[in-house]
Amino acid sequence: MKIEELPLHDPAKQVLTQLGLTELYPPQEEAVHAGVLNGKNLVLASPTASGKTLVAELCALKHILENDGKVLYLSPLRALASEKYEEFQKYTSIRKTNGRKISIGISTGDFDGSDPWMGKNDVIITTNEKADSLLRHRTKWVNDISLVVADEVHLLNDAHRGPTLEVVLARLMQINPDVQLLVLSATIKNVGELADWLKAISVTTEWRPVTLREGVIINDEIHFKDGGAQKIENCTKNSTLNMVVYTVKSGNQALAFAGTRRNSISLAKKISKKIKPYLSKPLKRSLNQLAEQILATGERTRLGEQLAEVVRNGTAFHHAGLSGGHRRIIEKSFKEGKIKVLTATPTLAIGMNLPARVVIINEYRRYEPGYGYYPIPVLEYKQMAGRAGRPRYDKFGDSILVAKTEDERDYLMENYILAETEKIWSKLAVEKILRSHVLATIASDFAHSEQGIYEFFGKTFYAHQYDARAIKAVIQKSLGFLFTEKMIELDKNNILATPFGRRVSELYIDPLTGVTIRDALTNRADPVTDVSFLHMVSRTLDMYPKMRPYNNEMDKLQFFIEDHQSEFMFDLPDPWIDRIGFEEFLGEAKMALVLNSWMNETTEDQMIEQFRVQPGDLYRLISNAKWLVHASHELASLFKHKDLLQKLSRLTVRIEKGVKPELLSLVSLQGIGRARARVLFNSGIKTIDDVKIAPISKLVGLPLIGAKVAQKLKKQVGSSLEIHEMQNLNSKKAKKQQSLTDF
Ligand SMILES: Nc1ncnc2c1ncn2[C@@H]1O[C@H](COP(=O)(O)OP(=O)(O)OP(=O)(O)O)[C@@H](O)[C@H]1O
Ligand SMILES: [Mg+2]
Repeated sequence: MKIEELPLHDPAKQVLTQLGLTELYPPQEEAVHAGVLNGKNLVLASPTASGKTLVAELCALKHILENDGKVLYLSPLRALASEKYEEFQKYTSIRKTNGRKISIGISTGDFDGSDPWMGKNDVIITTNEKADSLLRHRTKWVNDISLVVADEVHLLNDAHRGPTLEVVLARLMQINPDVQLLVLSATIKNVGELADWLKAISVTTEWRPVTLREGVIINDEIHFKDGGAQKIENCTKNSTLNMVVYTVKSGNQALAFAGTRRNSISLAKKISKKIKPYLSKPLKRSLNQLAEQILATGERTRLGEQLAEVVRNGTAFHHAGLSGGHRRIIEKSFKEGKIKVLTATPTLAIGMNLPARVVIINEYRRYEPGYGYYPIPVLEYKQMAGRAGRPRYDKFGDSILVAKTEDERDYLMENYILAETEKIWSKLAVEKILRSHVLATIASDFAHSEQGIYEFFGKTFYAHQYDARAIKAVIQKSLGFLFTEKMIELDKNNILATPFGRRVSELYIDPLTGVTIRDALTNRADPVTDVSFLHMVSRTLDMYPKMRPYNNEMDKLQFFIEDHQSEFMFDLPDPWIDRIGFEEFLGEAKMALVLNSWMNETTEDQMIEQFRVQPGDLYRLISNAKWLVHASHELASLFKHKDLLQKLSRLTVRIEKGVKPELLSLVSLQGIGRARARVLFNSGIKTIDDVKIAPISKLVGLPLIGAKVAQKLKKQVGSSLEIHEMQNLNSKKAKKQQSLTDF
């Protein structure tokens, strides 16, 4: 079917044809024939790169241009949401019937808000978690949504991400039973079951626009699915490195998946050394500039330095611990072909369009704490493999699993390459997950009776797949817990949320975390210090990654606990009576100690060395701690602990920025993090007023500041530069650039 023949407004078709799209791909055509442009609910299950997004775009245009509708696009991850946001930009020149241009919005951030301004957009792109939070806040514009697109819905099977997506879909169907659902998924075994749940038609295809050759490598030999084999140059004993060198030497780009953040970094370091000799001089120059850009983006961090180092050699790593700024630079420069090899954690396997001629899957086992190593599902393998050979970038793609022995090669061939994807199963009915959704159901006024709650959860995929009775017992247990903890109460025959329950639900924290914080603030220690709060949040269920002390840290930890004994809001268990509790306490104390060192300006290098904590884990710890201290502030305010409010709000900023109190005013400036603030402070520039009056030449001369940052600083504090100062700066900048090109 030609794009021209689509039952769609001409301007929309023009946008597509001008971009060179002329024909629909077969899965797209099937979707149109199935009635997706006539308002039918559809589950489209088709392989990676088969163009599922375009179906969503066409359907969105139909809603916006013909039915005055509004579209919610749900994505499982921020990076993917940004990519979709970019893709939708091409339609912003089209005018709607009211004469206004189509507008696209993206909302993926902070969970404690209802983003009312988002409602003015025609397409709103969010992550599943953000959508859940918006629903909890009863955001008004959600009622106006006429089309919901849910991307990567096979992730319902994922224990971490699935339940939220499931509840969001059930909730949206509850709010507006007439809403059109377009659900995009990988090919899975039980598409029919999924479609039945959503009252949708299903379209399943096996079609892919670009050939994907799947194989396994041992040392220097690749065995392909079709029985063929290929030898590549054997330059090391490591198959991954051989594969990478082969790819780069033939002028292509590779994406190598590693199981963990740590492994993605160490693999990038190894690769960068190997591919260095194959980069051209002009490319090296451009990579050096890119490395400088990385160092100048945001605050100077150890992770940023590691990234800049490998980028100089055409390699990068990508994982959720990177700052947003760095992540975007890496994604863009990989797409532009500057970065030749990207190592990544599996989050990049979801939906992204990347120019990877070759995907290398280095680890097919994943580690789950408390469970050990397990082989990843076929579904996840297919997602990783599917990043290779994307239509925009390549004519074909190779996806290569790495094996160490021949047995392993046969195992991988049989259990991944030749295997069918599994069925997906709802992971909703676990009390830890469900109690928060039961509370949200009541707190956000979706149901006020036990029956109403059962009815809502009776509409979930879980109830559809198993049995509504199976989930009832878990709901009852959750209700019991919420009553006991006074998050819900009975008012005549209605179940209502108490103000505590409502706030916990809005803050997007586990109800048990809410209880821990409430009780600690009420029975608080005397004196209450930052350490008391740090230990309190470290103790909550929502605090992760959980840490354990190493043996050689015990003495230091013991001192820390003794020093702060009176400040802890929880008793130290007796190791002879409660060994597990005692060890958990040590872990919590370690987290408090790590956070305390962080906000007392211990450098990252020192922290990595002292606590053996990886940069990625450190950032996760910090961002979770910040969120939980903010939640504590909100609960302290609710329970009228007025004396704690200022302490908690200052602590939130100190954790976020990692600074002592004296730097708080400087770090409120953009581009000024802990390292630069310390440089300014130590040179006598201690307040915003000091920045205002400091001569620009002094700022420029300071380490880590330089001309760009100095200019930005002056602009922010509202002091304009004199003309001669500008001239001076510009000539200095020109000199610096000259020396860079010389290099
Ligand atoms: N009809 C078409 N003609 C040419 N190119 C197309 C067409 N439809 C989609 N594409 C291109 O195909 C690429 C892959 O599309 P898309 O990202 O939608 O795949 P997908 O099916 O969502 O894959 P995944 O399962 O990996 O998310 C995009 O770059 C898109 O621009
Ligand atoms: Mg997709």
